[in-house]
Amino acid sequence: MSDKNETTLCRTLIDHQRYPIDNLEHPERRRVIEKCRKALAGDGCAVLNGFISPYGLERLLTEVEERKPLAYFSKSKKTNVYFSSDDPSLPPDHPQRIFLERTNGFVTSDHFDDNTAARRLYYWPPLTRFIADCLGKETLYIYDDPVSNMIVNVSKSGNCFNWHFDTNEFTITMLLKPATSGGHFEYVPNLRSAEDENYDAVSCVLKGDDTKTVRLDLNPGDLQLFLGRFSLHRVTENTGDTDRLLLIMSFAERPGMIGSQHRIQELYGKVTDAHIAAERNRIRNDGLMD
Ligand SMILES: [Fe+2]
Repeated sequence: MSDKNETTLCRTLIDHQRYPIDNLEHPERRRVIEKCRKALAGDGCAVLNGFISPYGLERLLTEVEERKPLAYFSKSKKTNVYFSSDDPSLPPDHPQRIFLERTNGFVTSDHFDDNTAARRLYYWPPLTRFIADCLGKETLYIYDDPVSNMIVNVSKSGNCFNWHFDTNEFTITMLLKPATSGGHFEYVPNLRSAEDENYDAVSCVLKGDDTKTVRLDLNPGDLQLFLGRFSLHRVTENTGDTDRLLLIMSFAERPGMIGSQHRIQELYGKVTDAHIAAERNRIRNDGLMD
């Protein structure tokens, strides 16, 4: 596929008039980036409404619906907001000791071949450049993980992803299909900082205090950039009877990054030779097992 064809396709997958992301000098591109940076600096969340065009949405949804039966659901798990283990020396109501339900289903990137619109949009260099500019990063790279770099989160009726902080700095998602009821993205902006865990406030949210909780009203085709290190967030239970579908694209600040064998296996039920080789190199490099 030539670059020209790639450009033609990708421009039709997004609302190119509103988001001329491949035209670096376009004033509208600059305006969107500025707005995005302001929102991220404010509360760590930016939404670009209608980023995917109606045509793009239809194509992406068709591809995802076809592959949905291939989704891998890891065993439903209970985790605390830090994804850490229990510490019995702490009081029972400490946030580290509160474990909540998390259900995960993913269609992994290896199910999307090079001809799929989802993959071609993900690998389109102007998209990576645009995301980097929105985040204020000098350079970003495609995440090199062959299983998890571009995945679809499938949230079935009854599924939820409870309160947590992310371990990664930013998350880039595109909602393809919302739940007919429930399945809301909610967050509490800047609840902790690098200096202060703010346990009391985290505890209040876990006990049901929603005074500082923001609920996002996301629509199909919206692009969301989210900084989840400091803002507690969740996706509420899907109480409808259809699946909620979310496309997740990952980018890295260094080239050649892939996930750890253990984590990829746990979340996606498979690893590739690349994961096994990387793990061997890692163990050999420092002589330790973890
Ligand atoms: Fe998260």
